[in-house]
Amino acid sequence: MLALLLCALLALHADALDVHVPESPVVALFGTDTVLNCSFSGVSAFNLSDLSVFWQLSDTKRAVHSFWQSRDQLSDQEERFANRTGLFPDQLRSGNASLLLRRVRVADEGSYSCFVRVQTYSSGAMLMQVAAPFSKPLVTWGPESALKPGDAVALSCVAYGGYPEAEVLWQDGAGRNLTDNVTVSQVANEEGLFSVKSVLTVILEPNSTYSCRLNNPLLGEEGQASVTITAQGLVFPPLALWLTVALAVCLLALLVALAAVCRRKIRESCEEMRAEEEAKELEEAKELEEAKSAATPLKS
Ligand SMILES: *[C@@H]1O[C@H](CO)[C@@H](O)[C@H](O)[C@H]1NC(C)=O
Ligand SMILES: *[C@@H]1O[C@H](CO)[C@@H](O)[C@H](O)[C@H]1NC(C)=O
Ligand SMILES: *[C@@H]1O[C@H](CO)[C@@H](O)[C@H](O)[C@H]1NC(C)=O
Ligand SMILES: *[C@@H]1O[C@H](CO)[C@@H](O)[C@H](O)[C@H]1NC(C)=O
Ligand SMILES: *[C@@H]1O[C@H](CO)[C@@H](O)[C@H](O)[C@H]1NC(C)=O
Ligand SMILES: *[C@@H]1O[C@H](CO)[C@@H](O)[C@H](O)[C@H]1NC(C)=O
Ligand SMILES: *[C@@H]1O[C@H](CO)[C@@H](O)[C@H](O)[C@H]1NC(C)=O
Repeated sequence: MLALLLCALLALHADALDVHVPESPVVALFGTDTVLNCSFSGVSAFNLSDLSVFWQLSDTKRAVHSFWQSRDQLSDQEERFANRTGLFPDQLRSGNASLLLRRVRVADEGSYSCFVRVQTYSSGAMLMQVAAPFSKPLVTWGPESALKPGDAVALSCVAYGGYPEAEVLWQDGAGRNLTDNVTVSQVANEEGLFSVKSVLTVILEPNSTYSCRLNNPLLGEEGQASVTITAQGLVFPPLALWLTVALAVCLLALLVALAAVCRRKIRESCEEMRAEEEAKELEEAKELEEAKSAATPLKS
């Protein structure tokens, strides 16, 4: 009995049409052309006119692309797929019923079913995810000037044109995560692409670095931007102090040099004066002596 059932099952299996689609979600880049793989096996040689392929949206069963009687049948195609789909006709015989989807949009994201009928029929469903890279993040802050340590500063990190929503991570100069006081907003444009803005409010410390790292869940780490804010309240005084000290030292050195020069000059002139005086005295003494010797004749 069991053997019979097994035989029946095996017989059924031998005849069965197998449809293969990717098991893990397929990631398609926004704006590019993508191929949704679907292959079938388990049928022996067949006439193309006996083959039907239906690609549908899994949840609504709306037609994405249909093929039967050896040609594309697009009368019931969902409007938004018009002119954007195609099969690979020369590949159908070898069991390749993959769908080419051109200029992928955000709205295309979802589950697609590949339905194949030859002598019998089977189907498979696959998930397609759309990804778009964000622009390089840009960090700005305000107020921009006259910042002192202790001030609250709002740093904004913005990036745009990405999909799906980004994860924004703030880090300080030492690589620590800053998770307090962060608000994130993500707004989609008419194409479904997001602009992300993350605002971090910090109490400013002198000379601090903040980086904003952007992660796209489908594409991974995308970019980062950092800023270093020097709080002028603390950064400028040391500079001013240094300048003052340097100036003072210069001035002092100048004074000392001047004093030394002056002292030498004074001493020199004093010596000159003294020398002159001495010379004068000497002359006077000489004259006096001469006078004396003239007055008193030599006793010999
Ligand atoms: C589609 O199938 C081809 C051939 O088997 C394979 O090389 C390719 O990686 C597949 N693409 C995806 C997105 O699975
Ligand atoms: C089907 O054919 C297309 C075009 O040659 C190719 O890109 C795709 O990978 C094929 N898929 C499979 C599953 O073989
Ligand atoms: C396929 O079928 C059509 C009609 O059903 C027939 O005219 C044609 O010869 C067949 N082609 C092959 C290759 O068997
Ligand atoms: C598709 O292409 C045809 C012919 O090129 C054109 O008339 C039609 O407007 C296009 N449809 C869309 C939705 O672009
Ligand atoms: C920071 O956060 C990210 C994401 O939440 C995590 O992967 C990482 O390990 C964290 N790093 C630190 C230093 O906490
Ligand atoms: C977060 O904001 C609150 C209120 O604005 C403030 O008291 C707190 O210090 C802030 N925390 C950090 C880490 O900046
Ligand atoms: C500011 O930080 C940078 C990098 O951490 C460091 O090289 C520099 O010396 C710091 N400057 C001051 C004035 O603290």
